[in-house]
Amino acid sequence: MQSRNVNLEREDHLKITETNLTIMMEFVLLGFTDIPQFQWFLFGIFLVIYMIILLGNGVIILITRVDAILQTPMYFFLRNFSFLEICYVSITLPRMLMDLWTQKGTISLFTCATQMCFFLILGTTECFLLAVMAYDRCVAICDPLHYPLVMCPEVRIRLVVASWISAVPVQIGQTCQIFSLPFCGSNTINHFFCDIPPLLKLACGDIFVNEMVVYIFGILFVTVPFLLILGFYIRIISTILKLPANTGWTKAFSTCSSHITVVLLFYGSATVTYLKPKSNQHEGIDKMISLFYTILTPMVNPIIYSLRNKDVRKAMRKFLP
Ligand SMILES: *[C@@H]1O[C@H](CO)[C@@H](O)[C@H](O)[C@H]1NC(C)=O
Repeated sequence: MQSRNVNLEREDHLKITETNLTIMMEFVLLGFTDIPQFQWFLFGIFLVIYMIILLGNGVIILITRVDAILQTPMYFFLRNFSFLEICYVSITLPRMLMDLWTQKGTISLFTCATQMCFFLILGTTECFLLAVMAYDRCVAICDPLHYPLVMCPEVRIRLVVASWISAVPVQIGQTCQIFSLPFCGSNTINHFFCDIPPLLKLACGDIFVNEMVVYIFGILFVTVPFLLILGFYIRIISTILKLPANTGWTKAFSTCSSHITVVLLFYGSATVTYLKPKSNQHEGIDKMISLFYTILTPMVNPIIYSLRNKDVRKAMRKFLP
C-alpha cells in the first residue's frame, strides 16, 4: 500500500516536471475561447471570409495578367498587391481556422516566431506598397505628361522589390529580439495569432528596450508611409479641384475617397495596436481592432481598388458567361 503511494507521488512529480518543460516549448493561443458558444459560427464566418479573399484577389491577379486594357502601371501594382494580400492573410487565417476547428490553440515557440516574423514582414510590405500605389496615382493625376517616363517598367519593378525586401532584415531582427526574452509564468496568449503586443505581455525580463524598438519601427513603417499617402492624396485632391467642372472629377473624387477609407482602416488599426501605450484591460477590444488590419482590409481591398473600377468590371465580364 505504502509503496503504491510512493509510486503515485513519483508519477505526480514526473508530470509536474513535464508541464514545466512544455511551458518552455510552446504557447497556447486563446483565440476566441472567451465566447465558446460562437466557435462554430466564427469558424464559418472566417472560412467564408478566407474564400472571398482568395477568390477576389485571385481574380484580380488573373485579369490584370491577361486583359489587354489592364496593362498599365496601376494594374501592375494592383496585381502585386493582391498577391501580397493572399500571402499576408494566409499567415494568420488558416491557423486561426485550425485552432477553431480543433478547439485548442497550442503552438510551438518556433511556429509562433515564424508566424510573427512573416506577419511583420508582409505587414510592412503592405504599408509600403499602399504608399507606392498612392504615389502612382499622384503622378498619373498631377503630372500626366511625365507619367509614362516616371513609371517606366524598370522603376515599377524597383519600387515593388524595394517594398518586399526592405523590411526583411529589420523584422527578422525584431522577432529574434522578442523571442530571446525569457518567458516564464503563463504561456497563454490572449490573441488569435502571435503578434508583438500580446507576446510582450508574457515576457518577464526587462522589456523597455523591446517596447522602444516596437515604437520606433512602428513610426518608421506605419506612420511615415501613412503621412506620405496623406500627402499624395492631398496633392491629388487639390489637382482635381482645379479642373473645370464636368470633367469627371466627381468620379475621381469618389475613387480617392474609397482608397482613403481603406488606408485609414488599415493604418489606423495598426497604429492603435503598435503605438498605443501598454494597457492590460480591454484585451477583447484589442483583438477586435487586430481583426481590421489582419482580415478586414485584405477582404475589402479588392472591392475598393478594383470592383469599383469600370475597366476592371469590363474585363471581368469577358470572363463570365
Ligand atoms: C510581386 O513582387 C514580388 C517581389 O518582386 C514577386 O516576388 C512576386 O512574384 C510578385 N507577384 C506578382 C503576382 O506579380
